[in-house]
Amino acid sequence: MSIHKEVKRITTHIVQEMKNRGEKIAMLTAYDYSMAAIVDDAGMDIILVGDSASNVMAGHETTLPITLDQMIYHASSVVRAAKRALVIVDLPFGSYQGNSKEALNSAIRIMKESGAHGVKMEGGIEIAESVTRILTAGIPVMGHLGLTPQSIYKFGTYTVRAKQDAEAQKLREDAITLQELGCFAIVVEKIPAKLAKEVAESVQIPIIGIGAGQHCDGQVLVIHDMLGINKGFKPRFLRQYANLYDQMNGAIKNYVGDIKSKSFPNEQEQY
Ligand code: KIV
Repeated sequence: MSIHKEVKRITTHIVQEMKNRGEKIAMLTAYDYSMAAIVDDAGMDIILVGDSASNVMAGHETTLPITLDQMIYHASSVVRAAKRALVIVDLPFGSYQGNSKEALNSAIRIMKESGAHGVKMEGGIEIAESVTRILTAGIPVMGHLGLTPQSIYKFGTYTVRAKQDAEAQKLREDAITLQELGCFAIVVEKIPAKLAKEVAESVQIPIIGIGAGQHCDGQVLVIHDMLGINKGFKPRFLRQYANLYDQMNGAIKNYVGDIKSKSFPNEQEQY
């Protein structure tokens, strides 16, 4: 008999049940093994291997440069750590917009080479064919509407989306389309809380918000932002739960100081 307690893996069906019973869904990004282990152990429902790795891990200004190979590297590290959470991986810019066959190949590579449980894609009706093809292969898809950072050069800024009627109406229609295609959930980023509420009430699948107010079925943040590693990034929607930049910086300064003053290592710290 095993002495290890079985951990029940969160599935897309469990996420749907959470919405059905009004339980909020907790989602957070992670990009490497050690962070993902902490996030998983804390009881996260969904870990997103976001293409925000391009910003917070690689230091790029946008999410556009990250490659499929790099996403697979991050995702496989996260999957090795996640015992309970559902692991969803962003299809990076350029890996699915070309045509639906390329989109399917990209999604299959992520599933096969990282062991993740599904993919996330930015866009609505424009990517319907690719979404359908990926879903037909049995790969769960999470949609992403509102501020879609892969289109930053089209938008021009990272400000709130869908404030005007036409864009809000398109977003409502895109959410219905993604649901009808078979997406299991949709992220809505930086849209008015009233619109997010309306969307969450108009579809059956979970709506996960980032900067989209309290009426979404769940919330997602970028881990570096909520832990205060990303110094200086303080948008209104962000609640910062720690100030790791200062804590880590202080610890590392102490380490440097101890080496310089010859107090590290001491006699107990050697063989
Ligand atoms: O890449 C990412 O981290 C995301 C979240 C902001 C939802 O897409």
